[in-house]
Amino acid sequence: MRIGVLGAGNMADALATQWARAGHEVLIGARTPDKAAALAERIGPGATGGGLREAAEFGEAVLLAVRYEGVADALRQAGALDGRVLIDCTNATGPPDFTLKRPAMARWISELVPGARVVKAFNLCHESVWRRTPPPVGVPLCGDDPEAVAVVERLVREMGCEPLHGGGLDRAGLLEASAAFALGVYFGGPRPGDPREMFPPIEIATEGVGPIATESASR
Ligand SMILES: NC(=O)c1ccc[n+]([C@@H]2O[C@H](COP(=O)([O-])OP(=O)(O)OC[C@H]3O[C@@H](n4cnc5c(N)ncnc54)[C@H](OP(=O)(O)O)[C@@H]3O)[C@@H](O)[C@H]2O)c1
Repeated sequence: MRIGVLGAGNMADALATQWARAGHEVLIGARTPDKAAALAERIGPGATGGGLREAAEFGEAVLLAVRYEGVADALRQAGALDGRVLIDCTNATGPPDFTLKRPAMARWISELVPGARVVKAFNLCHESVWRRTPPPVGVPLCGDDPEAVAVVERLVREMGCEPLHGGGLDRAGLLEASAAFALGVYFGGPRPGDPREMFPPIEIATEGVGPIATESASR
């Protein structure tokens, strides 16, 4: 598959490396093409560098990996993304308080580029997790377009991870909030906490709970 990457920072590096290793062609695009070229060189075979528009035009799937403050600007520079699977890994949060500076990023992004098929993914874990082989996590995905979700599921599986069905784009804001909340538990308190301790294992969580009808389960 041809994958364009918008941004040449840590997430671009981690995910593009995985995808190039899996045999995909990756074009890293940045507002400073020299940075994109340097990253492509580090990644090696399968990767090339260029500008944001080049990456957008190149990719059947396009990863949006810029800081939330730069998202609108980067998408404007990238141009139309009609029909592209746009993978949104952004988080509009950060230290010291880890609140959401802009709720529902993915929904907002889908309004900025109405032709793109947006899938929220890879926002829940630090880039160092995505550099592992394989990353030791399930990957929640939210998107409205089943074909686009299937494309991202394939990329997730090729990294050695299992995709987790997170629902449509209206639920992506919950995934973004989950990332902000988890970051606060990890790093925001007087001592690091492990957010995994908040949840019981599935056997305990579902014990004694009958079937719960949901729209997707009844389809
Ligand atoms: N790092 C993580 O562990 C992690 C984990 C999950 C999700 N995320 C999310 O992933 C996204 C990328 O994070 P990152 O860690 O890769 O960030 P990063 O290392 O700081 O890189 C950000 C990239 O965004 C580009 N950029 C910033 N403003 C721009 C603008 N106005 N126009 C075009 N490009 C612009 C930067 O370009 P220049 O180099 O030219 O400045 C850089 O290439 C963020 O939204 C972050 O919240 C990060």
